[in-house]
Amino acid sequence: MTRVFSGVKPTGHLTLGNYLGAMRQWAEVDQYRSDALFSVVDLHALTVDHDPARTRRLSRQAATLLLASGLDPRLCTVFVQSHVDEHARLSYVLECVATDGEMRRMIQYREKEARERARGRGVRLSLLTYPVLMAADILAYGADEVPVGDDQKQHVELTRDLAVRFNQRYGHTFVVPRATAPKVAARVMNLQDPTSKMGKSEDSGPGIVYLLDEPDVVRRKVMRAVTDSGHEVVYDREGRPGVANLLEILAACTDGNPESLAAVHQSYGSLKKDTAEAVIEVLRPVRDRHRELCADPGYVEEVLRHGAEKARAMARPTVDTAYRAIGLLPPVTEAEPALNAAR
Ligand code: TRP
Repeated sequence: MTRVFSGVKPTGHLTLGNYLGAMRQWAEVDQYRSDALFSVVDLHALTVDHDPARTRRLSRQAATLLLASGLDPRLCTVFVQSHVDEHARLSYVLECVATDGEMRRMIQYREKEARERARGRGVRLSLLTYPVLMAADILAYGADEVPVGDDQKQHVELTRDLAVRFNQRYGHTFVVPRATAPKVAARVMNLQDPTSKMGKSEDSGPGIVYLLDEPDVVRRKVMRAVTDSGHEVVYDREGRPGVANLLEILAACTDGNPESLAAVHQSYGSLKKDTAEAVIEVLRPVRDRHRELCADPGYVEEVLRHGAEKARAMARPTVDTAYRAIGLLPPVTEAEPALNAAR
């Protein structure tokens, strides 16, 4: 069966963009058709200035929201990255295969590096090596497919390069994965700035709908979305990005298509009203389930404990193989007494 791996980074509250762009596809499609792992990749949250208590809170919340969005631990593996040592173990070995030039060419690194420097902060070394850890996340599990947004494609390309290079140098060890774009996904843009993605890491803004926003808050944010000059509702991504974003959100929430939805709306006001209500309805079951899960923290902990155990068992053999292949001396274990005696 196809193996799928993806991760969410606990650097901010999860948004409607995360849900419509990724999580919904994981829950509705991927967990049924594949052997899938979904990880809260908390080690990745430490690459820029962070608050330890907040990171811990966001990790728990992200795990809870993955389950609230419909991931079923009987169908897929949900776990927290730092609970499984194999990620860090493999990352080091891959650092011995990657080059510094390759790392410095990563677009996301260049952007974040510039941002950190502009704020007068040092750049953590882990920000540079981040894509290698991400490669380890993927390669440790022999994932065939990695569903990610456009901004992560370059990192998956790098993962492929590292896998191929390692296999050529040290013998076949890794499955070479590919990035996939979710079929039903919407690319949700910021409601106040429809040319940039609705990301979770930005400071809380009126243009971002969070999965746990109350209905009233969702309504207010959508009603205040920036629209374009003009009055007619037309679907034109380039010329009318604000209206196009609302149409795409509405389409994603109602299983419709943006062009025909444009035709049935006479004004921006009615489009916003329908979009707000559609978003509220889509988020309602997620919010309800999240509330139930929060009332039963023992359940979430048990899912994560079991998930980490399953993940560890899947990753361990591959990482062991990589250690042997690259020339590390296998440790002598008690399970091999005959071998010891023979020496
Ligand atoms: N880098 C991804 C992001 O910022 C998160 C991530 C980490 C990831 N490891 C991964 C995604 C492995 C897919 C597979 O969104």
